[in-house]
Amino acid sequence: MSELRVENVCLRYESPDRESFLAVDNVSLTVQDGEFVAIVGPSGCGKSSLLFMVNGIAKRTSGVIRLGSAVVAGPSPSRALVFQEFALLPWRSIIRNVEFGLELMGVDKSRRREVAMTNLALVGLAQFENHLPHQLSGGMRQRVGIARALSVQPDILLMDEPFGALDAQTRQVMGTELLRIWERSRTKIIFVTHDIDEAIYLADRIIIMSASPGRIIDEIEVNLPRPRVGLTRSDPRFAKLHDRIWKVLESEVQESLARQFASNGK
Ligand SMILES: Nc1ncnc2c1ncn2[C@@H]1O[C@H](COP(=O)(O)OP(=O)(O)OP(=O)(O)O)[C@@H](O)[C@H]1O
Ligand SMILES: [Mg+2]
Repeated sequence: MSELRVENVCLRYESPDRESFLAVDNVSLTVQDGEFVAIVGPSGCGKSSLLFMVNGIAKRTSGVIRLGSAVVAGPSPSRALVFQEFALLPWRSIIRNVEFGLELMGVDKSRRREVAMTNLALVGLAQFENHLPHQLSGGMRQRVGIARALSVQPDILLMDEPFGALDAQTRQVMGTELLRIWERSRTKIIFVTHDIDEAIYLADRIIIMSASPGRIIDEIEVNLPRPRVGLTRSDPRFAKLHDRIWKVLESEVQESLARQFASNGK
């Protein structure tokens, strides 16, 4: 077992020429093995900052983050991050992009190739191993990013709006793909999204964050049976969950926008 436990975590960004800025305010959450947790919240509320702290690339100002018994003290392949932008290395072939994390871990070449090919097959791209990133569509590149993250066999997959740049149909298909991969790998996932429908479709549990500084203001179990393919807001259970989440989120989004307009006007 390697439960993720985020305990009373704050992140304050310090800058020499500006006042310090509290981005994440006293956040606590746990993610169990095999669990799929989505996070929603207004733009700028600190969702990425929270994921970056769990990954270890951002250093928390206070609080503790544990994965199993280990305290998070920096980046580790056990906490893989998938970004909204594909973040592939443009000069490397697809297979060599997928191998990249394993290379950093010092895994030998033949083992690297084997693991990367398995994961490329898992995301349905085995036949594109020798292509370069620019020869693939956005959705395919995003799948390469997922294969790369899975290759290091992370204990937790941290996904920061991974489908944000994709069109609605591709997004839908990618969501279903991700669930298939998740069910096979049984890794736990934290998935940040702006899309409430996407969160309901994917997650076991949805965490709602407040306007900045980000706090957790609600947590909702998605008690809909899987698979949820074809489940939309026309289903009363889906609609009820959507309404409940939007009721909590709406005022936070309004507050966040009002603040942004006010600071623009200064
Ligand atoms: N390196 C940084 N230095 C200073 N402030 C930062 C830094 N990174 C983020 N911030 C600020 O922290 C707040 C939270 O940013 P963050 O990117 O975590 O939000 P978010 O919820 O992911 O937003 P979005 O939904 O738009 O991606 C924002 O106000 C942002 O301006
Ligand atoms: Mg973000």
